[in-house]
Amino acid sequence: MAMEARSRIVGTGAYTPAQVLSNTDLERLVDTSDAWITERTGIKERRIAAPEQAASDLALHAAQRALERAGLSATDLDMIIVGTISADMPLPACAAFLQKKLGAGPIPAFDVAAACAGFLYALSIGDHFIRGGTCRRVLVVGVELLSRVLNYEDRATCVLFGDGAGAAILEATDDPRRGVLSTKLYTDATLAESLCIPAGGSREPLSAAGIAQHRDKVHMNGSDIFKVAVKNLSQASRSALDAAGMTASEVTWVVPHQANLRILDQVAHRLDIPLSRFVINIERYGNTSSASIPIALDEAWREGRFKTGDTVLMCALGAGISWASALVRL
Ligand code: ACO
Repeated sequence: MAMEARSRIVGTGAYTPAQVLSNTDLERLVDTSDAWITERTGIKERRIAAPEQAASDLALHAAQRALERAGLSATDLDMIIVGTISADMPLPACAAFLQKKLGAGPIPAFDVAAACAGFLYALSIGDHFIRGGTCRRVLVVGVELLSRVLNYEDRATCVLFGDGAGAAILEATDDPRRGVLSTKLYTDATLAESLCIPAGGSREPLSAAGIAQHRDKVHMNGSDIFKVAVKNLSQASRSALDAAGMTASEVTWVVPHQANLRILDQVAHRLDIPLSRFVINIERYGNTSSASIPIALDEAWREGRFKTGDTVLMCALGAGISWASALVRL
């Protein structure tokens, strides 16, 4: 009997820019301290893209590494989905530039704007196209150049974020033991204005006055987001497990969005999964939004931490508020 097609991650890749911005460097820009940032977030340093780099340049490196790892070339791809809120330009999509730079065919290529949940939104969409039989191989990318949309005079935001890209190749498989087991996507806009870039869209087009007031940069009420993050990440993780008929004790690794070590500590507690089973690299990259999960996934894979058959739970939450989870058997 033919098995239902499901998607499997057959390659990952990541790229982070060379320039390091440490907490000590930030002490020279705003009224902050290495001690405050480390204690409140777990972050020690983050990467900053070079002036000539755009999102598709970072994404290209990550995508090429994922293709190489999968033993595939760009012409093998049936779709490109990029999770980003810092595309090269407002129009067209970052995915369009990536399609050209990779040399992929005239395939569907589009961006998903779900902020920090962007990679898991893209993964879920790719998984559905593969399950539906429309695609066999989908490139899923998370990429952000948040340094371009941060106000380096606002200590409440500029210390948190960094630049980077991560990618995964999904491929159809009929192996019932492996692949994406479940994905869950959510948005609740009650707190939409607690994390936003107020100007530069149709509500408030860019103006000299708006730029002078940094309204084209990220504005965030961190404590609002913190509380909802702990609750929703735990809920989404449980929903992904329930959908696959599994329990937290069966999870080998959690690869969470890297926003704040204290959020992860509380999520670990709520899920009753020890923090030692979480893949954490926030100390080196800060919050890279949609790129954080695929970067962590790729690092853990290359370090040999993952074994075939491991069950990996991913969860993310960001602006929107949009949040998501995915359960994958490697
Ligand atoms: N250095 C020193 N002091 C600071 C800094 C800083 N960088 N930033 C804020 N403070 C001060 C505040 O001014 C405040 O001072 P006050 O008490 O005198 O008013 C004090 O520290 C406490 O501020 P809080 O905001 O209450 O600090 P909190 O413990 O909540 O930590 C943080 C702030 C780290 C932002 C936390 O709330 C957080 O991580 N929130 C979640 C962020 C997140 O997950 N975002 C979603 C993803 S991002 C995306 O979607 C793009």
